[in-house]
Amino acid sequence: MKNTLLALLLTLPLAAQPVDIDKLMSQMTVAEKFGQIQQYSGFGFTTGPTAAAEDAKQKELIRAGKVGSILNCVGAKVTNELQREAVQHSRLKIPILFGFDVIHGHRTVFPSPLGESASFDPKGCEETAAVAAKESAAQGIRWTFAPMVDIARDARWGRIVEGSGEDPYLGCALASARVRGFQRGGKYAACAKHWVAYGAAEAGRDYNTVDVSERTLREIYFPPFKACVDADVMTFMTSFNEVSGLPSTANRFVLTDVLRNEWKFKGLVVSDYEAVDELRHHGLAADGAAAALDSLKAGLDMEMVSEHIAKNGPALLAAKKITMAEVDQAVRRILLIKQKLGLFDNPFTAEEPEQKVLFDPAHRALARRSAARSLVLLKNDQKVLPIARTLSNIAVVGPLGNNQEDIIGPWHGDGKKDEAISLLTGLRNKFPQAKVTFVAGCDINSDKPIDRAALTQTLAGADMIIVAVGESELMSGEAKSRSHIGLPGQQEALVKMVHESGKPYVVTLIHGRPLALGWLAEKCPTLLECWFPGSEGGNAIADVLVGEVNPGAKLPVSFPRNVGQCPIYYNHKNTGRPADLRDSYVSNYMDVPNSPQFSFGYGLSYTTFKINEVSLSRNSLSPKDSLTVSASVQNTGSLAGDEVVQLYIRDKVASVTRPVRELKGFERVSLEPGQKRQVTFQLGPKELGFYDRSMQWAVEPGEFEVFVGNSSLAEKAASFTVR
Ligand code: NOJ
Repeated sequence: MKNTLLALLLTLPLAAQPVDIDKLMSQMTVAEKFGQIQQYSGFGFTTGPTAAAEDAKQKELIRAGKVGSILNCVGAKVTNELQREAVQHSRLKIPILFGFDVIHGHRTVFPSPLGESASFDPKGCEETAAVAAKESAAQGIRWTFAPMVDIARDARWGRIVEGSGEDPYLGCALASARVRGFQRGGKYAACAKHWVAYGAAEAGRDYNTVDVSERTLREIYFPPFKACVDADVMTFMTSFNEVSGLPSTANRFVLTDVLRNEWKFKGLVVSDYEAVDELRHHGLAADGAAAALDSLKAGLDMEMVSEHIAKNGPALLAAKKITMAEVDQAVRRILLIKQKLGLFDNPFTAEEPEQKVLFDPAHRALARRSAARSLVLLKNDQKVLPIARTLSNIAVVGPLGNNQEDIIGPWHGDGKKDEAISLLTGLRNKFPQAKVTFVAGCDINSDKPIDRAALTQTLAGADMIIVAVGESELMSGEAKSRSHIGLPGQQEALVKMVHESGKPYVVTLIHGRPLALGWLAEKCPTLLECWFPGSEGGNAIADVLVGEVNPGAKLPVSFPRNVGQCPIYYNHKNTGRPADLRDSYVSNYMDVPNSPQFSFGYGLSYTTFKINEVSLSRNSLSPKDSLTVSASVQNTGSLAGDEVVQLYIRDKVASVTRPVRELKGFERVSLEPGQKRQVTFQLGPKELGFYDRSMQWAVEPGEFEVFVGNSSLAEKAASFTVR
């Protein structure tokens, strides 16, 4: 009773009057202003012999009004405790904004973002983001550092797992969906990160130099961020990298000219973790004061973890190197976000419902659905899938087969590996009558020899083998670049042994980045791409293996044949010497085709589809007009299933070179056997335009080709002319 009352009291609004930000700012001291600009990490979580002293110091900082925001502090009780210091004991009672990396779920873990993107299902992505926000909000978090909307074309880069892949059109659709999901209800902030071009790191090495043209920024890397602004995202995060000589965190072109002046973004921009300090390592700033000056002048509002702005700001002001107006601008943006989130009125989190919200059965059901919808059937040459429900002896083989830790992937928030469903458990749930045995066979990533005896014994009686291989969660994500992107360790050798057994088998792939699958892609008849599928991964994979869910996802990123092809992406330019021009002295490799192993947009189903009857509402149009492309899609097989109908265009000749094709529309359609549907796409100035020679958006006269199909390899279906 006492607890319930307390929980209720905590959620009651504090102030009847909405806070007047101008008035509040007029009462703030310089130190309090710089305090708002400061974000600290991990308050309330210090351990060890000095913990009590650290806690006291942290609370002292809060009472002194020197803490604007805290990240990595999770839990209603601990956030409330710190919040009390701010709203009850600091002079101006300004609430703290608690942030956290809620990347793909929170306690309920959804598929890794790249995997979920394979679902080509913006609505689904919106739902999972909304649930992630709900669960983390129950733990005092009001701000996620997501979505990560960095376009990534290089599988070496470990953070490719966190985004939506290589395509700006898909990236925009999913970025805005995720922002809408996180911010549903208006009391939780999303963060578009990492602004900008972080995914273009040279050689796929995390944090590395980026040097891309303004054209590529505008056409490839900017659009998903603009989509976030259009979806009213409340915050942005700068990227660690430099962009053509200027680190983003001190880059006025990206932080102010584009974001504020062109796009009219009104929210707050936070640096990435110590990115202000890193300006010293970049060789841009000689010391902390210079780093503070450079980042503030460029348009940064909040500093994550390093303390250069807070520490040097007052002296920079006194020396007239920065103006009070510049400081106020940052502080106002921060306070306005706190106001928008309702933190002045309701800064606390009810402690009681926390456990009820987390890992709610409905959330887990969503996790299972979204994981199953994100699985991509790469090969099913012998129609081994779906497997029969009558199987009586199933062997699960591979280091990811009985694995709860890696299946939830990196950046799994408050997700608990003990709560995750392994593939083995998923299969045992699905086949309660059957014997389901397991052997790891080898490690994920070591040279330890394969346990042949155990493998032989496990395979002996099996009538079906489900292999689970891939990467550990620690092999994808931040600072997890790899120069070898094949299956690590002895796993390929393990699959070869299974193959040689002559028994029917399926390879399930559990990992983050696109892998160069080499021998597996060539020889294994059945490959199911599962990504890091999340808390309900094992159940979801089992759903697909038996055909309860017919796989309908598509690759959001190209799978290279080998690492030497990286970066690789479908929307490349033609070059002056395209590979099909003649036999030699063309843009190709001597030892491998230009094409990826598996193309963007590719994915099979247990049924078959026919996409045809493509028609255009007109064959010519003016640059201001639009046309409609329609096509029919029919399920020509005997099982219900989903197809993602994809529309690509090519602007054949233009004042600047254009990609060989660009995705401009997609729709995931569910069809019963025999059922036929019409899908339509609009092509107007937004889809047909590009940045011309003077960097202005323009639709130029000329011929456009239209490709409609079920992958980026879709055949040419029509053409039209802009006059
Ligand atoms: C560094 C990462 O680059 C960023 O994505 C993340 O949000 C911050 N750390 C905070 O954890």
